[in-house]
Amino acid sequence: MSEAETTGRFPPFRVLLSRDEILRRIHELVRQLTADLGEGYADGPPCLVAVVEGARPLARTVQRLLPGALPVHEIKASSYGSGTESAGTVEVLGGRDIPCAGRTVILIEDIVDTGRTIARLREHFRAAGALHCRVLTLLDKPSRRVADVVPDYIGFDIPDEFVIGFGMDIAGRYRELPDIVIYDAEIEKVFERTALAE
Ligand code: PRP
Repeated sequence: MSEAETTGRFPPFRVLLSRDEILRRIHELVRQLTADLGEGYADGPPCLVAVVEGARPLARTVQRLLPGALPVHEIKASSYGSGTESAGTVEVLGGRDIPCAGRTVILIEDIVDTGRTIARLREHFRAAGALHCRVLTLLDKPSRRVADVVPDYIGFDIPDEFVIGFGMDIAGRYRELPDIVIYDAEIEKVFERTALAE
């Protein structure tokens, strides 16, 4: 774990994972995934599905590293609302025309927390005729798990902290932060007060 803090236009949140660490780990995950899918995609090209919005930066990186310029489809599942606690029910939005029948779906997630989102999406793609449904997640919080979900490819196991950055937000803020940091409302408040006073 890094001791660094965010700088520049962002409040000085504690950095949990730097952008470099993140990118290095994504390279490793994609190497593993490519090997598992077989040379030249033995069973046909997989169907990449990003769970937006948080997984967009991860999905873009995975897409760039995988052979074959595969398209990334997007699906949305709503669970968090605007706070830091999961609501419990997951609604699947869109994604009806994703061509998943008879194919291996790779669900790309920024974080698996309670696991409810992935459990719901897996159900969704199985019902739509996917052959397999594998899960690649950048972060995993196994201590928070409620649903029976074990991701196939995990970037980092993290403690039960509310993290933002690299696509992840709190109420729409900080998705563009390059590192993954621990959200702290006090640090944010002080930073905003200082910025206003300048
Ligand atoms: C986050 C994250 C996962 C989900 C994980 O999405 O991107 O999809 O929560 O939580 P779970 O394992 O408890 O179901 P969020 O609802 O915050 O939407 P967003 O990606 O649009 O920010």
